[in-house]
Amino acid sequence: MQMCWNFNVINRCQGNVLMEWRTEFSVGDDKFDNDHKIIFGLVDEFKRILSESENAHEMLEDSFDKLIDYIDEHFAREEVFMKKIGYPNIVEHHGKHAEMEDKMRALFTRYSEGDPTVSEALGNFVEDWWYSHILKEDMKYREFAEG
Ligand SMILES: [Fe+2]
Ligand SMILES: [Fe+2]
Repeated sequence: MQMCWNFNVINRCQGNVLMEWRTEFSVGDDKFDNDHKIIFGLVDEFKRILSESENAHEMLEDSFDKLIDYIDEHFAREEVFMKKIGYPNIVEHHGKHAEMEDKMRALFTRYSEGDPTVSEALGNFVEDWWYSHILKEDMKYREFAEG
């Protein structure tokens, strides 16, 4: 039986359900929308490997590195943009980016050090963070990005 719940505009079901980008996620700028779509794909790949990873630690590490490298680049692109447009909440927004990366790295380290109970929390944290961050935080720069 699948467990489903509603997360903002997304119906999430536990299991092999892919992250879904919808027009509600558009922040009004194609390059950031494309970044978010690519990140959704990388999160899906990471979660898939995480769920099958008994003997695939190297694969999982590669996938994690790919994901966090892309996230890093995306955060940097957003922060450069925010600086350029004089976005007022840049410090707070940067703090949320940094906090996310720290938590993701910490959970992955715990998992890598042999705590398998973190696996589900890690996958869910990353997925939920992106839905929530785009809808609540990135959306605040939408009015500056449009046009
Ligand atoms: Fe973003
Ligand atoms: Fe952001």
